[in-house]
Amino acid sequence: MKSTKQAKLKGKRVILRVDYNVPLDKGKVIDDAKIKETLPTINYLLENGASIIIISHLGRPEGKKVSSLSLAPAAKSLSKLLGKKVDFVSDTVGAKAKEKAASLKPGQILMLENLRFSPYEELGDEEFAKKLASLGNIFVQEAFSNAHRRHASMYAITRYLPAYAGLHFLKEYETLSDILNDAKKPFVFIAGGKKTETKAGVLKGIAKKADIILLGGGLADTFLVAEGYEIGKSFFEEEYVSDAEQVLRDAFDNGCEVLLPQDVIVAKNISNEARTKEKDIEQIESGDIIGDIGPKTVSKFAQPIKFAGTIVWNGPCGIAEYKAFQAGTRGVANLIQESQAVTIVGGGDTLSVLKKLDIKENFTYISTAGGAMMEFLAGNEMPGIEALK
Ligand code: 3PG
Repeated sequence: MKSTKQAKLKGKRVILRVDYNVPLDKGKVIDDAKIKETLPTINYLLENGASIIIISHLGRPEGKKVSSLSLAPAAKSLSKLLGKKVDFVSDTVGAKAKEKAASLKPGQILMLENLRFSPYEELGDEEFAKKLASLGNIFVQEAFSNAHRRHASMYAITRYLPAYAGLHFLKEYETLSDILNDAKKPFVFIAGGKKTETKAGVLKGIAKKADIILLGGGLADTFLVAEGYEIGKSFFEEEYVSDAEQVLRDAFDNGCEVLLPQDVIVAKNISNEARTKEKDIEQIESGDIIGDIGPKTVSKFAQPIKFAGTIVWNGPCGIAEYKAFQAGTRGVANLIQESQAVTIVGGGDTLSVLKKLDIKENFTYISTAGGAMMEFLAGNEMPGIEALK
């Protein structure tokens, strides 16, 4: 894998693939952590005489133009962080984008619109990749957190341009490789949040490597259903229940213990004013919605966390946007920080929650990658890395 530092950049138009899949509120970026991680590469490219065409996805617009998922706010946020103009064009491979890209001078930055507004991005379409590639002379991959996707701008594009790894991409790759090759035992994996479709597949691989998996958040609800529990009106992903069953079987076969919530915080609605109750899993009623793991579960998780050699954590343990459902995530975060283990925390959602809860980021390594980090640690295929190799 070649580093950006090996590229001849002077006078070149660099297509820089980033992951600006950042949280937005009323048209503003509310957490710019992923954008900040790309600044060293952007500055390096500019200092070495290149111009930059930034490409990214944002959310899941499913191949359609969804104005609330425009990258325009990310361009504004980047411009503010750099103290420099970032031109934005609401186009990706059309005439407007071509014209703007062709007129770029060294030191200038152009950002294109959300790649996923086109269905061809997620299809990994060769023609779309070729058109994107034709906008520049060099490709730099900085979106490690999306490297598990075989999308046009992650994989196919590298067939048409000399491709290099961005500085942050390389750092993520090298750090997580070291962890993967030398995980101190016991290896404890903590997974929460949603996106069961990404995580269930990954947990099958993790079950072969980890000694214990602790589950919280919406992900745990799907596993509770797989175990036959009534979870009332709680969020769960029905289509992935069979995957959850498979993870539990694989974990059993590999001697990996899976701990599910023993008690939870429930409410009849999810809001800041929600009236909550602590309930054991067996007591959940049809109108209940699970908002968080309960105190007994946090205590149950304390033991493996305390004696872990390596801990990887991705995904909040509850609906931590709301005060009433933050205690579980806070409790688990505190336990991880008190442990003597090598601790790795990853994922945009997890980092946003830590920030919101004002939890000090006292971990061995913080990755901006969530799903990608899990896929990588599970030893699964990583098209974004493969393409650079
Ligand atoms: C992420 O935030 O994990 C990446 O941007 C990938 O997003 P996706 O799960 O929508 O592909």
